[in-house]
Amino acid sequence: MKTKSFLTMAAAAAMAVALGAGGAIAAGNAWNQGGGEQDEALHLEPDLENGLDVYEVCAACHLPEGWGLPDGTFPQLAGQHRTVLIKQLADIRALNRDNPTMYPFALPKSIGGAQSISDVAGYIAKLPMNPEPGVGPGTDLALGEKLYKENCVRCHGENGEGMPDKYFPRIQGQHYKYLVRQFEWIRDGKRRNANPDMVKQIAGFSDKDMVAVMDYVSRQKPPKELVAPSADWENPDFK
Ligand code: HEC
Ligand code: HEC
Repeated sequence: MKTKSFLTMAAAAAMAVALGAGGAIAAGNAWNQGGGEQDEALHLEPDLENGLDVYEVCAACHLPEGWGLPDGTFPQLAGQHRTVLIKQLADIRALNRDNPTMYPFALPKSIGGAQSISDVAGYIAKLPMNPEPGVGPGTDLALGEKLYKENCVRCHGENGEGMPDKYFPRIQGQHYKYLVRQFEWIRDGKRRNANPDMVKQIAGFSDKDMVAVMDYVSRQKPPKELVAPSADWENPDFK
């Protein structure tokens, strides 16, 4: 069932891309201007039951547990800060962050307006995280730790926990391959909603530095209370 609905959705997404639905380019934006849907959603009390209803669409790619895939195609969303989820969703809807695969499924006609953003973000933020995310090669962890401490702590925190009130994402325990792709896109200017101070901070990073620091981050452990009891935990809401 899930496989079939996933294939149907993937086909729909491919069509949307072919038709150019995700191809419009938004003008260069200052980072986190907020306003509009983002501000609206942030101030709306999340209705978690509707959040689950909305999340059914998302689960086709991000999986019922919100754990994404270790191959990095789909990120883990579980445990991400609600503020970050709201900002990223609003950015993707506003074409301020390119995501042609997801774009058609994230639109108001698919999931609804600001209230739905608030609801689904509230639901996802409470999902327990994957205890066994994809990690890197493990070859340069000492370099990774050094680079992390010198360049990332002020925004992503000592242990990759992020800062919800500043929209700095939790990156601890995210799949390594997804981390590398985002880091590279942020460094090379491909992710348009990237934080300009982060871009400056990592401008001098070589590919070797990038692999080392992301490997280190993928192995950072989120607080125990945010993590699922085992890797075969299944989301009971989907049973
Ligand atoms: C057709 C597949 C698909 C569907 C359906 C989908 N997504 Fe995604 N989503 C993706 C992909 C692929 C990415 C990563 C894009 C990239 O690499 O930048 C992503 C990224 C995200 C991100 C950014 C995560 C981060 O760490 O920055 C959020 C938030 C998100 N999705 C939320 C949702 C929500 C909420 C829904 C349901 C309304 C949804 N997605 C439905 C494919 C999908
Ligand atoms: C000045 C603050 C700042 C610094 C320093 C910084 N970051 Fe970030 N980082 C951010 C913000 C803000 C975002 C989210 C950008 C957005 O709004 O889309 C982000 C996003 C990311 C992402 C993508 C997360 C996702 O879920 O898509 C990764 C990976 C990342 N940072 C890694 C790092 C690493 C590793 C370092 C150190 C080498 C670093 N960052 C330094 C602020 C910072």
